[in-house]
Amino acid sequence: MPLRAPFPKTVFVLTGAGVSAESGLGPFRDRGGMWARFDPMRLATPEAFAADPGTVLDFYNLRRRGAVAAAPNPAHVALAQAEAALAERGGRLFLCTQNVDDLHERAGSRAVVHMHGELLKGRCTACAGTFPCPGDLDVADACPLCSAVGTSRPDVVWFGEMPHHLDAIQAALSAADLFVAIGTSGAVYPAAGYVRLAQARNIPTCELNAEPSDNANAFDEARYGPASETVPAFLATLTS
Ligand code: APR
Repeated sequence: MPLRAPFPKTVFVLTGAGVSAESGLGPFRDRGGMWARFDPMRLATPEAFAADPGTVLDFYNLRRRGAVAAAPNPAHVALAQAEAALAERGGRLFLCTQNVDDLHERAGSRAVVHMHGELLKGRCTACAGTFPCPGDLDVADACPLCSAVGTSRPDVVWFGEMPHHLDAIQAALSAADLFVAIGTSGAVYPAAGYVRLAQARNIPTCELNAEPSDNANAFDEARYGPASETVPAFLATLTS
């Protein structure tokens, strides 16, 4: 199926940890990935936070410091440029990321939907308010909104919790005329199922990844290699 004719008006882009890998933020399921070194059930669930908030906060403090120290790579920059180029033509690039870093924003993307939350935001389990969180969180911290102590957690989506912005994501998927997945293993739902929804609408689908993902067979086209090379090359064909 021709991927690029006619010129896409709405491109739905789903990114995962692989888009930030070359910025030094390691993926989760590669060999030696984060979940090979840390037990997600002890660090990335509401139950883990309730049982041992200090350990969970320390884990996310480490990840936040890494994200703050990282820099966007050419894949992030190309996505920001494609967003602007499509907008100039009356089109739209809907960027849905599973990542909790802010590298897309720091590369210049203006509309980023973080379906798994954001490391640089905190959330209070007492008042449910969210607040900027550029630095470490500690169990002794008081919520900046309601002053409750010990209730501040990272505003990230843990296993067993509902991802964010699902209605907006569904609406964008229903309006898209091209679906591109970048740097994701296709292992975690609902994000892993989005390519099937795109297929069901008969729109072209493309995977840009280091290697075939778990749902590689669902894509019309695939380009394998480092995102810093495949993403700029692919997006250039859309906006040239
Ligand atoms: N360029 C392109 N792709 C890459 C690169 C790279 N430089 N490095 C790794 N990849 C690919 C890997 O081959 C893998 O398929 O990126 C993918 C990363 O997969 P995961 O580590 O599973 O990350 P992701 O798909 O984002 O995980 C989804 O799982 O643990 C949860 O909340 C977490 O958002 C995360 C979700």
